[in-house]
Amino acid sequence: MKIVAPCEDVERTIVIIAIDGPAGSGKSSTAKAVASRLGALFVDSGAMYRAMALKALRTGIDPETTDFEAVIRETRIGLTARDNRTIVLLDGEDVSHLIRSEEVSGMSSRVSKRPDVRVRMVELQREAAFNHVADGGVVVMEGRDIGTVVFPKAEFKFFITAAPEIRAERRARQLSKKGEVVSVAALLQQIRERDERDETRSDSPLRAADDAATLDTSGMEFEEQVDTIVRMISGNAGDTRQ
Ligand code: DC
Repeated sequence: MKIVAPCEDVERTIVIIAIDGPAGSGKSSTAKAVASRLGALFVDSGAMYRAMALKALRTGIDPETTDFEAVIRETRIGLTARDNRTIVLLDGEDVSHLIRSEEVSGMSSRVSKRPDVRVRMVELQREAAFNHVADGGVVVMEGRDIGTVVFPKAEFKFFITAAPEIRAERRARQLSKKGEVVSVAALLQQIRERDERDETRSDSPLRAADDAATLDTSGMEFEEQVDTIVRMISGNAGDTRQ
């Protein structure tokens, strides 16, 4: 293992770093920056659920009905890295930008409630990681259930959270940079609804793994979040499970 110097002299090789947390906690950008600092592959598992949500919107088939089973079977979802960016492919089409709309965000938490969707996505997530690990790489995967379900034996697990009000403000700032004006109150409402759906679904609800290190980023700057995680990984000869 070349990238995390203090780990070079321990037998355990770090292969999977799981970063989970609620919507808007900053876990995606943090995970991406951590992966780049460590020279690891970044896998955005939420992008896969979003691609499936876009498919639901396009077909007009309600994901809460049995008709959706056929949609799952015939849908191809892939992630690939290009110029340091993750490209999301839906049936071969690059949908990386289309999956970031508020409409897709809302639909993705409905789609991700389905156990059969989750089974398929977990398969794809493991496949993406194993292919990379088999080539000697390290993977940073972010989502909601990476440390609990997808990789319960991940060497490092982090749960990133922040107060809903802070998450709504961050989201409003992100959107305003893109020229979209959405009220913080409306975003807060959406965040609360998504949290509720993600935390209460019966299959793989959003929760911190018992052996995850929780990081509340409410009062933290972005660089501080990244530094904290990289330091915890680099400074730990073992892992967060000890
Ligand atoms: O992280 P995100 O906002 O891009 O995720 C989109 C949706 O997918 C969100 O509603 C939760 C769901 N999701 C999930 O259920 N499990 C994951 N591992 C990742 C995302």
